[in-house]
Amino acid sequence: MQEEFKGILQAALNARRHAYAPYSNFPVGAALLCADGEIIVGCNVENLSYGLTLCAERSAVCAAVSRGIRQFKAIAVCAETRLPISPCGACRQVLAEFGDFPVFLCNVAGEIVETSVGELLPRAKTGILDGD
Ligand code: THU
Repeated sequence: MQEEFKGILQAALNARRHAYAPYSNFPVGAALLCADGEIIVGCNVENLSYGLTLCAERSAVCAAVSRGIRQFKAIAVCAETRLPISPCGACRQVLAEFGDFPVFLCNVAGEIVETSVGELLPRAKTGILDGD
């Protein structure tokens, strides 16, 4: 793995500690590597009205965009799972809004699978508003 991606793996693992997941007891952390090298993290934020739950990946994207950052080099997501976690469909679509970049799927045991936004969600924009 490229050196520049290593920081987001640790950041995603750390971000799990801030997760608000009293209903699932399934804390998830995510970390975006931004174009300027900055790392912005997110965690899942659950709600008594379950459908309002925000996943870690979308939480990270919202944090970045709220700070004026829209260009990403990679994202890492981490949970305590047997197999490295992969983003839900909604998060895939939200990530695709900001391009096709590497996605590192991780678990706390240290297993890592590298994929990409385009591989996780092909044709995310094709045809919509005449997009490619
Ligand atoms: N969750 C994430 O934050 N990211 C994922 O990639 C999958 C699921 C959260 C949503 C919910 O708080 C909990 O994990 C169980 O689904």
